[in-house]
Amino acid sequence: MTSVDASGSSTPVSEEQVRAALRGVVDPELGADIVELGMVTAIRLPGAGAVEVEVALTIAGCPLRNQIRSDVETHVGALPGVETVTTTMGVMDAEQRKAVMARARLVARNPAPATDIPDTARVIAIASGKGGVGKSSVTVNLAVALARRGLTIGVLDADIWGFSIPRLLGMQGDVESREKKMVPLERRIGDGLLRVLSMGFLADEDSAIMWRGLILNRAVQQFLEDVHWGDLDYLLIDMPPGTGDIQMGLARMLPRTEVIVVTTPPVAAQKVAARTADMARKGYLRVAGVIENMSDFTCEHGTSYALFGSGGGTRLAAEVGVPLIGQVPLDPSISAGGDAGTPVALDEGHALAKVFADMAERVVTTIAPVVPMDGCSARLLERVDAAVDAGVLAAGPASRG
Ligand SMILES: Nc1ncnc2c1ncn2[C@@H]1O[C@H](COP(=O)(O)OP(=O)(O)OP(=O)(O)O)[C@@H](O)[C@H]1O
Ligand SMILES: [Mg+2]
Repeated sequence: MTSVDASGSSTPVSEEQVRAALRGVVDPELGADIVELGMVTAIRLPGAGAVEVEVALTIAGCPLRNQIRSDVETHVGALPGVETVTTTMGVMDAEQRKAVMARARLVARNPAPATDIPDTARVIAIASGKGGVGKSSVTVNLAVALARRGLTIGVLDADIWGFSIPRLLGMQGDVESREKKMVPLERRIGDGLLRVLSMGFLADEDSAIMWRGLILNRAVQQFLEDVHWGDLDYLLIDMPPGTGDIQMGLARMLPRTEVIVVTTPPVAAQKVAARTADMARKGYLRVAGVIENMSDFTCEHGTSYALFGSGGGTRLAAEVGVPLIGQVPLDPSISAGGDAGTPVALDEGHALAKVFADMAERVVTTIAPVVPMDGCSARLLERVDAAVDAGVLAAGPASRG
């Protein structure tokens, strides 16, 4: 899909590529992308790296307007060869709205299970196709960097069998329950707070035996449903390696989950990561960006070595049509911090703390800013409910109009 040739220069972007990138822009409530929802009404390529996209909103005063615009611009803007992206917002005609209503009706009929995760919290799964690329290390350090901004960050260790979050954060203890729900363990980070849940906190209890009997997906579902998360700005989910099941489960249970794909510089790793990104999109999870881990190693004399090659993260991001959020160098402090339970992102003077702080900044400002969720589709769903009550939509198969 990428149009970067061997010399690294880029060829003009195609309409196909733009459309593929737009598939990464997902309506958080309907769990479908704007291409499928019929919201993309025109793509124009006037030349010189310029792309014009026309998006039709369900209603004129859609509060998600700015988010959709910025998502379109980040996704299309990340394609190689694209210099400028202009988004024009229009409003759907009756026919287009009918198609979206059909989708909304489907969603309304199959409501996701109730969770205690606040509507305003952004949910980000940290995934990779391959094991050992640093998902868990990235998760804890990014969580710490976000918390240092004064935010409250949930960390869910979805690696039921190979959990590592308790060790990486130096946390242990028994999970208590309140009103029949598990209460995450907490750790203060400056003005911010981490709320953490992992199988590791249940491992000594009888419940662990029951938990192990649950199939993987069901266990994650319980982590989402039966947990008292309280206030959260972000929920970061540390995914086990390469499990399509859990991704699909998340797509069903928490359709607003977005995925950050972690990759390493070698080409083989990118191929696996690209499959993960593809799977995420097919499950209608928006891929929000790529983080390259184990990038250049800088020795004590200041010389950098690209031990595993270079440019992998950039290439993958371009291929998927999403931004490269950052590159984490290969550095023994990551493993040392992990062994000691003090993530390197806590160490203000350390160069890596700056790397994670910059990524946190990017996440908060452009990748996944916290936005109010009472968007256009929420209103659309209210109208669907009203229509169902009135018997208007009660009969007949979903029509795509
Ligand atoms: N940037 C880095 N520099 C040096 N070592 C690293 C870096 N990132 C991760 N590591 C080390 O690599 C190993 C694997 O990292 P980690 O456990 O975070 O990967 P993972 O993707 O979560 O693995 P799994 O798939 O098993 O869950 C750990 O020992 C960790 O300390
Ligand atoms: Mg891990």
